[in-house]
Amino acid sequence: MSTKPTVLVTGASSGIGATYANRFARRGHDLVLVARDSARMDALADRLHEETGVAIDVVRADLTDATHMRAVEARLRDDNRIGILVNNAGANVGGGFADQSPDDIERLVTLNATSVMRLARAVAPRFAEAGEGAIVNIGSVVGLVPEFGSTVYGATKAFVQFLSQGLAHELGTKGVYVQAVLPAATRTEIWSRSGADEASLPPMMEVGALVDAALAGFDRREPVTIPHLHDAGQWDAFQAARQAMIPGFGTVEPAPRYAPAA
Ligand SMILES: NC(=O)c1ccc[n+]([C@@H]2O[C@H](COP(=O)([O-])OP(=O)(O)OC[C@H]3O[C@@H](n4cnc5c(N)ncnc54)[C@H](OP(=O)(O)O)[C@@H]3O)[C@@H](O)[C@H]2O)c1
Repeated sequence: MSTKPTVLVTGASSGIGATYANRFARRGHDLVLVARDSARMDALADRLHEETGVAIDVVRADLTDATHMRAVEARLRDDNRIGILVNNAGANVGGGFADQSPDDIERLVTLNATSVMRLARAVAPRFAEAGEGAIVNIGSVVGLVPEFGSTVYGATKAFVQFLSQGLAHELGTKGVYVQAVLPAATRTEIWSRSGADEASLPPMMEVGALVDAALAGFDRREPVTIPHLHDAGQWDAFQAARQAMIPGFGTVEPAPRYAPAA
C-alpha cells in the first residue's frame, strides 16, 4: 500500500480522467477509478498496476443515478486513505438550447454540476478535519464564453468554476487545496460522444499535455489553472475587474441610472 494519499478519479475510463489516473499512478498514488464502463477501467487498472505497482480499485457508477451516487459519496466519506478527489466525469449534449431534450440537459446538469458538488461535499468535512486534502474540479473555458452557444454545458462549467473558487475561499484556511482546471479543446472522446461534426472540430491540445500542465498548476497549488491560456495576466485582470465591483455591492441606494422617470 502506498504511503501517499489515494486518489479517487471520476470519469476515469477515458480521456482526461484516464490520463490523471495514469499520471497519479506514476507518482506512486493508489487509485479509485469511477465511471460506468468497468471493463475499460479494469483494463486500465491492470495495465497501471502492472507498470507501477500501485493498488487500484474500480467502482462502476453512473453519477446521474442517485443510488450509485450515494455509494461513491459513502466511499469518499469513509475511506480515510482517499486524500485527493479529481471531479472529472462530464459530458456535453449537442445542438442548441431549444432543440435539446429537457431530460438530456437535466441529466447533463446532474452529471456536470450536481455530482461535482455532492462529491466535494462528501469529502470536505473529512479533509477540513484532517487539515489536508485536495479537490480538483474539471471545468471548461466554455464556462467563460456564453458566445460559444453551448449554453447549458457552459452554465454547468461556470458552476464548477464558482464552486471551486468559493470552496478554495472557505476551505483553504483549513488546509484543503481546491483547484479548478479549465481546459479548452482537448483531443478526447467527448466530441464524438456528443455528436460533434468531425469536419468542424477546432484545433485540439493533446490530452497528455493538458493533464501535465494541470498537474504543474496542482503542484504549485494554483486555484485556477487554464493550460491553453498563454497570457496569465488576462485571467488576473479578469479577477481584479470582478473584485473591483465588490465595494459597490455594499451600497444601499439603487444606482442613479435606475431612478424612476420623472
Ligand atoms: N475534451 C475537451 O475538449 C474538454 C474541454 C473542457 C473540459 N472538458 C471536461 O473534461 C472532463 C473529462 O472529459 P473528456 O474530455 O476526458 O471526455 P471523455 O473522454 O468523454 O471522458 C468522460 C468521462 O466521464 C465518464 N462519464 C460520462 N458520463 C458518466 C456518468 N453518467 N457517470 C459516470 N461517469 C460518466 C466517462 O466514462 P463512462 O462512459 O465509462 O461512464 C468518461 O470516463 C469533462 O468534465 C469535460 O467536460 C473537456
